[in-house]
Amino acid sequence: MQILILNGSIHGDAGNCGLLIQELRKTRKDIKWDLVNLAKTKFSSSLLKKITQADAILCLTGTYWDSWGSPLQKLLEDATDLEGREEIVGKPMGVCVLMHSVGGKSILSRLQGVFSTMGFLIPPMSGMTYSLSGQLALKSKNQHAKDFWCLDDLEVIVDNLVLATQSPIAWKSWPVDRKNFRKKWLK
Ligand SMILES: Cc1cc2nc3c(=O)[nH]c(=O)nc-3n(C[C@H](O)[C@H](O)[C@H](O)COP(=O)(O)O)c2cc1C
Repeated sequence: MQILILNGSIHGDAGNCGLLIQELRKTRKDIKWDLVNLAKTKFSSSLLKKITQADAILCLTGTYWDSWGSPLQKLLEDATDLEGREEIVGKPMGVCVLMHSVGGKSILSRLQGVFSTMGFLIPPMSGMTYSLSGQLALKSKNQHAKDFWCLDDLEVIVDNLVLATQSPIAWKSWPVDRKNFRKKWLK
């Protein structure tokens, strides 16, 4: 089981996303991990090969002024041509968004929408946010604790990505215009 991590953090390896990825790789030795720090890696045929070879993908990003990281946005802009391609259609995609306190859930929902529209498969319980405010809240025992996302939930995402690879479906794609999407259309 090979999962490719796409780290969309603006801080690459050195940030909170990087730290979380390190911890996940230590705890989930059952997975063959591959990692691409988008802050350092442009979309290329070798990244496409990694995406193609992966059984599933896990995308992480911080929240930056209510948006996902610019390295991830750059990937989406450069990899637009992936939409509907057989290399990605039906490939399970998990998403984890870090933040201090606000904005992460709307990023999560929008990102899942983008990935689904491109053709990735969004399995149930495959997206979460994790916040500094949630981390602080979890330090005090309280009856609402189960309602906060916690770091263990990331393992559930990994489990659901694994499960989603077990019953492959021959998904269909609608036709995609691959020639004109960058052309001027305004008259
Ligand atoms: C430029 C910048 C903007 C940020 N904007 C937000 C924000 O809008 N909402 C929020 O809750 N946290 C915000 N944060 C906090 C980060 O989302 C949070 O620290 C996250 O873990 C960053 O991940 P990273 O260390 O991998 O970059 C911001 C941080 C930076 C550096």
